[in-house]
Amino acid sequence: MRILLTGATGQLGKALCPKLDKEGFQYWACNSKIFDITNTKMVKEIANKISLDFIIHLAAYTNIDQAEDNPKEAYNVNQTGTRNIAHIAHSHDIPILYVSTNNVFDGSHDTPYKTNDCTNPINVYGKSKLLGEKEIIKATKKYYILRTSWLYGQGGYVDTMLTFSNFRKEISVVDDQIGSPTRCDDVADKIIEIIKNKSPYGIYHVTSSGQTSWADFTKKIFEIKNKNVQVNSIIDSDFPRPAKRPRYCILDNEDKLPSWETCLEEYLIK
Ligand SMILES: NC(=O)c1ccc[n+]([C@@H]2O[C@H](COP(=O)([O-])OP(=O)(O)OC[C@H]3O[C@@H](n4cnc5c(N)ncnc54)[C@H](OP(=O)(O)O)[C@@H]3O)[C@@H](O)[C@H]2O)c1
Repeated sequence: MRILLTGATGQLGKALCPKLDKEGFQYWACNSKIFDITNTKMVKEIANKISLDFIIHLAAYTNIDQAEDNPKEAYNVNQTGTRNIAHIAHSHDIPILYVSTNNVFDGSHDTPYKTNDCTNPINVYGKSKLLGEKEIIKATKKYYILRTSWLYGQGGYVDTMLTFSNFRKEISVVDDQIGSPTRCDDVADKIIEIIKNKSPYGIYHVTSSGQTSWADFTKKIFEIKNKNVQVNSIIDSDFPRPAKRPRYCILDNEDKLPSWETCLEEYLIK
């Protein structure tokens, strides 16, 4: 199995690479320095030179707030870049797996979003990722779109909070957004499972079970690690940021992962 992996240096890519190694897959781990997915000419040239069996497309412009100030760049990476990568899949007639986000939904629901629910992104990041989904669907029938939410892994939110705990006694965190924090390792396992099982093409939702707010998630991180940091709950409007966030971020999962608490404990007590 020869795989093109974009976004290999991101937090999900870092969780996935060792698992691809373990499976004995050959893969070309790329980031923006190795090749810029927005460079259409270069992507075409590379596509003509390599033999591939599968594409895992993780590369994205992921900074939600900066995307509001740099929409051109966000659309360029998440839509044009994805179109370029999808064209490789089409021209090689191979499957592509694209990781997307709960930000394609507006967060107005009170029940978990199903894979076929209407999308309606409320920030540039979500709009650009949705256009990425559409580019994939337009380019090929052999696609997996795997939506997830609130990812944490090496160098991500949980690690950042633990670093904060060495320097701060108090922190303010929003508690009016509800989501399912999800470990990168679990999403990486799902990606491997999809490839190995040749799962049916289509859209998948992959998150931990259960739900929480950012404030309660942060409290749990400090509780598990016995860190004495006071978490003050605030509401989103107390903490103005450039991008609107969906209030309700729960994705309906057919294939339930363990609860977010169990996964977090495993992550922190490893
Ligand atoms: N983080 C979350 O909470 C979350 C939630 C749901 C879905 N997702 C999706 O999951 C995927 C992985 O997210 P992540 O958190 O691992 O992302 P990340 O840590 O921000 O990493 C982004 C990756 O994309 C690469 N990249 C960015 N621009 C590129 C370009 N123009 N050409 C080539 N590569 C480029 C980066 O390469 P460099 O290292 O060279 O910059 C890096 O490897 C993304 O598609 C994201 O939208 C993330």
